[in-house]
Amino acid sequence: MERDFDTTKDVVTNEVKAKKSAQAKADAQLWVVASGKGGVGKTFVTTSLGLTLSKLGHSVVIVDLDLSGANVHTSLGANPSHMNIRHYFEGAKSLQELVIPTTYPRLSYVQGFWDSWTPTDFSYNQIQNLIPELKKLRADYVLVDLGAGALEAHLNLFKTADEKILVTSPEPTSIEKTYRFIEAYMCHSLKENAAPDAFGNMITTLRDHRQRTLSKPFSFKSYLKEQTGISYTFFEALSQKPVRLVVNSCRSQANAELGHSIKSVCHKYYDLGIDFTASINYDNAVWQSVKSRTPALVAQPFTPLAGQFLNSCKHLIDPEELRAVV
Ligand SMILES: Nc1ncnc2c1ncn2[C@@H]1O[C@H](COP(=O)(O)OP(=O)(O)OP(=O)(O)O)[C@@H](O)[C@H]1O
Ligand SMILES: [Mg+2]
Repeated sequence: MERDFDTTKDVVTNEVKAKKSAQAKADAQLWVVASGKGGVGKTFVTTSLGLTLSKLGHSVVIVDLDLSGANVHTSLGANPSHMNIRHYFEGAKSLQELVIPTTYPRLSYVQGFWDSWTPTDFSYNQIQNLIPELKKLRADYVLVDLGAGALEAHLNLFKTADEKILVTSPEPTSIEKTYRFIEAYMCHSLKENAAPDAFGNMITTLRDHRQRTLSKPFSFKSYLKEQTGISYTFFEALSQKPVRLVVNSCRSQANAELGHSIKSVCHKYYDLGIDFTASINYDNAVWQSVKSRTPALVAQPFTPLAGQFLNSCKHLIDPEELRAVV
């Protein structure tokens, strides 16, 4: 009897070991956080998602790729380190060697450029080489905090992410730039799926058409089909791995529901399905926590704000991957 019991236990233990070693070898899930406009809360959203995933029992590395100035470390309450991503781009260190642990269990980060006095865009090759390195980092999840705007390098990284998280605030200026980001993302995909000449022509016709019909509903897909007779199937693919919209700094019910309108505009105007993942409250604790150098979700873990991030993570992660409860 005892032996039977032991055998069962061995089998179970081996299964757990096998699962763990398969997990150890698997690539990290890559979540990239972007925005059309600066200052809308990308860094806050990235660090809060990271903290929430780590509280759920997952290992997380946050990589600061904001060329205009790194502040993931500040948001996490850490001092700037001489170990930063410049060493990776100069070939002195691997990305893994630059991972810095935090005081929060299972959460680490790679500090961005500290001395970004002359920021330039990443080259295509730099990004292509970086993507496998990001996915090979020893973590369940790798979260990338990007700089604002739809730069070519941002779009290259954004499109390869397992989760593409787009942050906006409810301000009209931010919403407008969110639409421009989405359009740039679609055109970027169009570019990849068309010959260079054909792409150039498409953009010119799209622009002319748009100039004439700015206030009218507009479908990228139908218009291109009308013009070229080709059905662009990649629009469906873009909707199947949808952009995840996060509306941050909501101060009213109307703000909190804004994501539904953006989603329906994307559907109607671009033929693009996006996911309205979360609306996040405006909370004074956020900017106060940056000053006091303790993340809001750590200082006040049981607020509606923390609940909104918990729900976002539960929505985004594979149900089988859900582990401990905060
Ligand atoms: N939900 C919120 N409630 C209150 N304040 C917030 C909230 N989200 C962000 N903030 C504050 O807004 C400011 C900008 O946030 P953050 O630095 O995260 O934006 P960002 O998009 O990363 O900016 P940048 O484009 O400069 O990198 C910070 O002072 C932050 O504390
Ligand atoms: Mg930022």
